[in-house]
Amino acid sequence: MEIYAKREDCNSGLAFGGNKLRKLEYIIPDAIASKADTLVSMGGVQSNHTRMIAAVAAKIGMKCLLVQESWVPHEDAVYDRVGNILLSRIMGAEVRLVEEGFDIGIRRSWKQAFDDVKSRGGRPYAIPAGASIHKYGGLGYVGFAEEVRAQEKQLGLAFDYIVVCTVTGSTHAGMVVGFAKDQRQRKVLGIDASATPAQTKAQVLNIAQHTASRSQTDAPDIDGPASRSPEHSGEPNA
Ligand SMILES: Cc1ncc(COP(=O)(O)O)c(C=O)c1O
Repeated sequence: MEIYAKREDCNSGLAFGGNKLRKLEYIIPDAIASKADTLVSMGGVQSNHTRMIAAVAAKIGMKCLLVQESWVPHEDAVYDRVGNILLSRIMGAEVRLVEEGFDIGIRRSWKQAFDDVKSRGGRPYAIPAGASIHKYGGLGYVGFAEEVRAQEKQLGLAFDYIVVCTVTGSTHAGMVVGFAKDQRQRKVLGIDASATPAQTKAQVLNIAQHTASRSQTDAPDIDGPASRSPEHSGEPNA
């Protein structure tokens, strides 16, 4: 058995890269077109996603307000002062620490942040946790599958399985849609890192179905009950 790792941490020169940037490639043009001046998002205290939102905002000259939730218990006294959250602060984001725990859905604190930007006279653009239930959240990883296919050609091999960490769902969902093109959607194995596998599976299926219709591919054939619709999720931009 041979195992290959795709270096998503090297996928850009922006703030250490990572899987979240591929999603933002499709979302940020919508934010710019909306004439927003502030990106508003949320994630855990050490979220990679919020670090990338801060980086993109700094890069394109927007403001950034981040709601950092208590997704995992920690005892480290400097947990909320080092790593990703430190980088977000250095990159100019306003950071709010809140007590709420992990949930993929929309939260009061996040809506509150959105409303606060408006009441200050700003023009907020809301990006949900992991950008996953955003209407364009899954598209970046459809493109990822195209990139893998090109690399497979260069390498002269085809991967039997694609293994991915799944939390908010759109990385996995985009891959499912992208790899459906060569019937490998059931070969994409998501490892749920949120300890809510049933909820995660429903979320992935739901995002995959919406992403398939947006990218004009057939709806992927995976099992699982559909849950929330990104189109009707209550997300402020929807
Ligand atoms: C490095 C890394 N891989 C995978 C994931 C999971 O991606 P998603 O939130 O799209 O399921 C995350 C984020 O939660 C992450 O930070």
